[in-house]
Amino acid sequence: MHTGTLTSRRRFLCLTGSLAAGIALQAIPPTVLAAGKKEGKELESGVNPVEDLMREHGVLRRVLLIYEEAISRIKGAEKLPSGVIADSAGIIRRFVEDYHEKMEEDEIFPRFEKAGKLNDLVKVLLAQHQAGRRLTDSILKLSEPVVLKTAEEKQDSSAAMQQIYGGTPLFGGTRLMRKKGLDTKQDLSLAMQQFIHMYRPHAAREDTVLFPAFRSIVSPREFDELGEKFEDREKELFGKEGFEKMVESVGEIEEKLGIHELSKFTPEV
Ligand SMILES: [Fe+2]
Ligand SMILES: [Fe+2]
Repeated sequence: MHTGTLTSRRRFLCLTGSLAAGIALQAIPPTVLAAGKKEGKELESGVNPVEDLMREHGVLRRVLLIYEEAISRIKGAEKLPSGVIADSAGIIRRFVEDYHEKMEEDEIFPRFEKAGKLNDLVKVLLAQHQAGRRLTDSILKLSEPVVLKTAEEKQDSSAAMQQIYGGTPLFGGTRLMRKKGLDTKQDLSLAMQQFIHMYRPHAAREDTVLFPAFRSIVSPREFDELGEKFEDREKELFGKEGFEKMVESVGEIEEKLGIHELSKFTPEV
């Protein structure tokens, strides 16, 4: 981490606060000044723009796990707790697409374009954001409670008819009902699968190639200012501790699906 972080607005305010209390900056011993810097860091989130984007990828990855679990339950014809897919897609829309990706598109990608660096990668990343939004449109539409409920009822009704008539289709009606119910769920599964398939490499490429290169194309001052801009935008959209609240919401969905215990992912070896 570079040493020019005192340029940040909040640290500036912290220092001017000390000055207003009648303490001359020059008179502060270096050890006290260092302690003040540490305290200032603890008071603010202390998250730089790259860390900010990377931890948001953590939220995205946790939703991918939720989608994966949902796909597996649909495949196994297990019932899903109501709203888990719609709520997860809502988090993707509001937090990942309308905030995280918007910041990448407004503040990160144009700087690479201007610097003439990683242009091909940026083009692909941008196209993937657009594809992701189209997939989320589908996921949101197909996971609407009324759509899913109807799909389930069609499947249930088909199963009941099969029991009564020993599987003989009634003028093709049961087969059609079953197919329609299954189609909705299969389309939903496919959209989630495509989303997972694209976003795992997308986020990994940004974490390992794009973000590490970002510091080399902006000044330390610009880097700091951007961190604050991200944080301000996050607060504006999601309120204080917006990130923490988002993590909490994801945790609640994981709990509904019984995938919240991290230790459950440890293999017995
Ligand atoms: Fe991205
Ligand atoms: Fe990203």
